[in-house]
Amino acid sequence: MWILSKHLKLSHTHSELETLILERTAELQKLSQRLLKVQDEERRKIARDLHDSTGQTLTALKISVSLLQEDCKAEPARLALLSDVAHLTDQALEEIRTMSYLLHPPLLDEVGFACAAEWFIEGFAKRSGINVKAEIANSRARLPKRVEIALFRVLQESLTNVLRHSGASEASIRFQHEAEAVVLEVRDFGKGITEERLQLLSGVSAETGVGLAGMRERLHELDGSLEIESDGSGTSMRATVPLCQTSLAVQMGGRGGVGISAQA
Ligand SMILES: Nc1ncnc2c1ncn2[C@@H]1O[C@H](COP(=O)(O)OP(=O)(O)O)[C@@H](O)[C@H]1O
Ligand SMILES: [Mg+2]
Repeated sequence: MWILSKHLKLSHTHSELETLILERTAELQKLSQRLLKVQDEERRKIARDLHDSTGQTLTALKISVSLLQEDCKAEPARLALLSDVAHLTDQALEEIRTMSYLLHPPLLDEVGFACAAEWFIEGFAKRSGINVKAEIANSRARLPKRVEIALFRVLQESLTNVLRHSGASEASIRFQHEAEAVVLEVRDFGKGITEERLQLLSGVSAETGVGLAGMRERLHELDGSLEIESDGSGTSMRATVPLCQTSLAVQMGGRGGVGISAQA
């Protein structure tokens, strides 16, 4: 009798602990999703400030320098110096513009993911020297704002990973926009991720990079999923976001997921 009541108590405590863990996990998930939103808002604000404030100051500087150039036409030494200043101002303006657009591309708000993705991929290929083939669904139909931001951040992070970790000289992007879901796949032809590392990355540990965790959270919030496949000939990251959330919630038991697989 005593053993039975102790057993009951233990299993009671066990289920209480399980509930507590589930509650805490859900709270942590909410917190990280909130952090990602704050990060997006912050990036959008910094992008606008850089563009509107520093960008405008540099444009004013450029005008003043060209007036000075007019004044110093007869003084070649000064003119050369001023032409250096004009050149540096142009360079700073270009840097500010690129920085601002990467933080939050205005195209994303204005014309949507497909255009912003094309612009980003083109710039990435130029900056990195990686040959990127892109097959972007030619749909001008807009997606919900948070889906567009999530897809753009997944694209940015995956391509940054290709540059940082894969050693690939070629990559390909595919974006499909169907009625029920959008699928974004970033594939590289680099060295891949070992099975051991993939296992580590599939769990929540110190080994899980911030980039992958961020992608996972963003997609999870939209009931979407991230599948990673990798072998010795490269890596593929496939993000899927359902467009009709209720049907997907039923299909997936209401949970987004991350599938990770290594192929020998
Ligand atoms: N395209 C890729 N090729 C090879 N390894 C990759 C690739 N993408 C991610 N990885 C591996 O996954 C890890 C986690 O990526 P991520 O979460 O973005 O963190 P970080 O880029 O900060 O290291 C990387 O450290 C790297 O080992
Ligand atoms: Mg990364």
